[in-house]
Amino acid sequence: MRSVSIFAGSVYGNAQHVAEEVQGMLTDKGVESEVFTDPETSDLSEAEAVLVITSTTGQGDVPPNLEMFHSDLRSEFPLLDGKPFAVAALGDSSYGESFCGGGRQFQELLLELQGKPVAEMLEVDAIETLAAEDEVVPWVEKLVDALTVD
Ligand SMILES: Cc1cc2nc3c(=O)[nH]c(=O)nc-3n(C[C@H](O)[C@H](O)[C@H](O)COP(=O)(O)O)c2cc1C
Repeated sequence: MRSVSIFAGSVYGNAQHVAEEVQGMLTDKGVESEVFTDPETSDLSEAEAVLVITSTTGQGDVPPNLEMFHSDLRSEFPLLDGKPFAVAALGDSSYGESFCGGGRQFQELLLELQGKPVAEMLEVDAIETLAAEDEVVPWVEKLVDALTVD
C-alpha cells in the first residue's frame, strides 16, 4: 500500500489541524499515512514519502515539537537517496524576512539530505488565508501521485 509520513510542526495547533485534514484526504484516496508530532530520525528514514507541514515561531524558527528532530537530522545526516518529499509552510508575512522560516529550514535540510522535492515549497500566509487547510489539502491532493510513485 502507498504511504506518506506527515511531520507536523505546530505551536498553537494550526499546522497540526491541517496535517489531520490532509490525512483524512489521503485516507479517502486509499493512501496510508501517519502524522508524527514528536518524530525521531528513524521515522524519516523509514518513510516511503515525506510531507512536512510546519508553522514558524520566534524569528523564522522551527516549532519546539520538531526542534530536536531537526537538529538530530542535522547531526546524524541520514541520506534520503531520492526519497520524494514536499513541504507546506504556514507563516505570517508580517514577520518580513523570517516569513515561513521554519518551512524553509526543512526544505533546505531535506534537499541537503538528497530527498527529491516533488514541488516548490508551499507558503501559506495567515494574513491572506484564514483556513490554511483550504490551500494545503488541494495542494497535497495534486501531489499524491508524485509522492507515492514507485
Ligand atoms: C510568537 C510567534 C512568532 C511567529 N513567528 C513567525 C515567523 O518568524 N515567521 C512566520 O512566517 N510566521 C510566524 N508566526 C506566525 C505563525 O507561524 C502562524 O500564525 C501559523 O499559522 C501558526 O501555526 P501553528 O498554530 O501551527 O503554530 C509567528 C507566530 C507567533 C505567535
